[in-house]
Amino acid sequence: MIRESLTDRVSKILFSAEAIDRRTAEIAESIVNDYVRGDAAKDEQERPLLLVCILRGAMIFASDLARRLTMPVEYDLISVSSYGNGTAPGAVRLVKDLALPIEGRDVLIVEDIVDTGYTLDYLRRSLEARRPASVRVCTLIDKISRREVTTRVDYVGFALEEDEFIVGYGMDYAELYRNLPFIGVLKPEYIR
Ligand code: PRP
Repeated sequence: MIRESLTDRVSKILFSAEAIDRRTAEIAESIVNDYVRGDAAKDEQERPLLLVCILRGAMIFASDLARRLTMPVEYDLISVSSYGNGTAPGAVRLVKDLALPIEGRDVLIVEDIVDTGYTLDYLRRSLEARRPASVRVCTLIDKISRREVTTRVDYVGFALEEDEFIVGYGMDYAELYRNLPFIGVLKPEYIR
């Protein structure tokens, strides 16, 4: 069992827990404005916005965001995975599907990070094929310098120009560091 502090493996904190909390509140306000007071809501039956949390990285952000939304929401979970070496670049497979049907629903995909864009591109196509009323995307981190496929993102917490290896607040390296309350840069000696 690892007994040392994981915080010591981080060279710098990019976004503190307080900064993430403040930004999450701002994003939540934009979402409420758009869906309640704006014209983002398209569901003719006026069902609640459906948050779709992308496991596993987005779990922490999605749960904090949901609690900041001052409007009725439902949420569901979906899990996808990138194929390993030897397959086409950007190939993504579905690991666990949604429990709820989304036809006619307003869907908000919640991601922790958009990197190359392949995951989001796959998810958007997969969900749009189910004929939802609308699909929007919210990501905490947008690593724009790494983008390989163009994909629209509607709500961004923080745009990152630099390609640093970040962990924490849901994001992992080899499954560790997800429970750090902040987002930081992992020291190179811990990357194999
Ligand atoms: C991460 C992240 C996104 C995806 C973004 O998930 O949560 O879903 O990568 O990368 P892309 O834009 O290059 O496709 P990951 O596959 O690491 O799984 P995890 O959420 O379980 O950590």
